[in-house]
Amino acid sequence: MEDKVREIISKYDSDKAFLVPILQDVQKEFNHLPHKALHRVSVFLDVPISRIYEVATFYKAFSLTPRGDHQLTVCIGTACHVRGAQNLTDHIERILGIKPGETSGDLKFSFDTVNCVGACALGPILEADGDYHGKMTISKSNKLLKKLGKKVVTDEED
Ligand code: FES
Repeated sequence: MEDKVREIISKYDSDKAFLVPILQDVQKEFNHLPHKALHRVSVFLDVPISRIYEVATFYKAFSLTPRGDHQLTVCIGTACHVRGAQNLTDHIERILGIKPGETSGDLKFSFDTVNCVGACALGPILEADGDYHGKMTISKSNKLLKKLGKKVVTDEED
């Protein structure tokens, strides 16, 4: 882990001004921000560990616990809400067996909600691994989940 963290930091010339991109790379490498890695970042950049944790907990994109291989996020902003985002959220919770903010026990899926991703006309939006899927329906979400390797057994349709 130490070598990997050192390698990431050296890409940024050990410049503490790049703390956020450095943490983004660490998150990408380990799928979360392990305490040991944050400690190494603190030592290598000579930034107090308290400051590292401040940044790590400020941004929603960072996670201190392991994330799933796939990230699903339902937009629950007003425009998506009136087009059925709550049903979609309930459905995905049921299929994955987790609530927003959680990761499945097998570390395959993490699930979250967000307030508006700026594509309101296409709502409801389901973001899967960074890709936006608009006008999402229950049956479309089932297809997407199956494509991501989730076994979907449900009678629910749109
Ligand atoms: S409310 Fe969902 S994209 Fe704006």
